[in-house]
Amino acid sequence: MPLRVVVAGATGVVGRKLLPLLREREHHVTALVRKTDRLEDVPADEVVVADVLDLEGLSDRLRESGPDVVIDQTTGFGAADRDEAMRRTAKLRASGSKNLLDAAVQAGARRFIAPGMTAAYRPHGHDVLDEEAPLWTEAPGCWGEVVRALASMEEEVLTRAGIEGFVLRYGSLYGPDTEYAPGGDIHARVCGSELPLVVDGMGLTSFTHVDDAAGVVLEFLEGGDPGVYNVVDNEPAECSEWLPAYARMAGGPAPVSLTADQAKAQLDWLTVHQLTEQRGATNFRIRETLGWRPTWPSWREGFANLFGLWPG
Ligand SMILES: NC(=O)c1ccc[n+]([C@@H]2O[C@H](COP(=O)([O-])OP(=O)(O)OC[C@H]3O[C@@H](n4cnc5c(N)ncnc54)[C@H](OP(=O)(O)O)[C@@H]3O)[C@@H](O)[C@H]2O)c1
Repeated sequence: MPLRVVVAGATGVVGRKLLPLLREREHHVTALVRKTDRLEDVPADEVVVADVLDLEGLSDRLRESGPDVVIDQTTGFGAADRDEAMRRTAKLRASGSKNLLDAAVQAGARRFIAPGMTAAYRPHGHDVLDEEAPLWTEAPGCWGEVVRALASMEEEVLTRAGIEGFVLRYGSLYGPDTEYAPGGDIHARVCGSELPLVVDGMGLTSFTHVDDAAGVVLEFLEGGDPGVYNVVDNEPAECSEWLPAYARMAGGPAPVSLTADQAKAQLDWLTVHQLTEQRGATNFRIRETLGWRPTWPSWREGFANLFGLWPG
């Protein structure tokens, strides 16, 4: 049945992939954007201008749209400065997502789909974590701010009366227009020998191709039980595996090797954490409960596709 769907973050990497998928399935799509200068690029039935940090304007716009489902794909991670990006993201999760949830409830929406991150899991215990693992709310610095805001947002989304809440915890997003694509930050750091291998570190990364980050949303418009789902590929990878493979496929130099102490002296805290202690995530729950399978089951094929090395 066609639904009325509102997408916040419609101009983002995932948002731009999601809109056409929704329209192909004949849903009525309202794109929520905060600037008027990119409206013609947004393939939606209706475009409304609102900032998710402005509850009043947001509530008015959502009431007019009368949505069945509201999807949040906003983030502040696009900011050039990493600390600023984290602060903006923390604010968006602490205030923006909650405003969107309030506005969705007031507008009579039946479902709310929120963005989570598998990178927010506390690094302890098993190498590969499921949805029951705790988020790292006591993490240091700006990262701690992001995780605490995420945890609080997730709690609200899952417990709010009158609406079914879903949290999709994505892995590290890669694919066209992401940080991993030419022009993106990871691509630049790898090609500039600024992302080393930490020889005594065992950081794991779970990846999610942007096709899967967008496509999985369709599963939750009507299906699935409310709750939290890891949306990641099948192959969490140590940096000693994915980083040299990525560098090779990107045509960059082989990554230099550092000890953990050298890495701590040369790199920012979050990068060291990711390379040395971050855990991966399993997609077992979403596979078992919804039968979901990633279009890109492994970053190996996904990276190859990104650099035109994958047949077909
Ligand atoms: N990248 C990753 O590795 C990763 C990992 C886990 C989860 N995620 C989550 O995945 C989702 C999609 O990420 P993405 O890479 O597609 O993001 P993106 O390309 O950076 O797009 C972010 C979107 O948020 C919008 N936005 C920012 N502040 C806003 C505000 N105050 N009001 C309304 N809209 C606002 C932006 O609009 P403008 O065009 O106006 O700037 C843009 O459309 C995000 O929720 C992110 O947190 C990402």
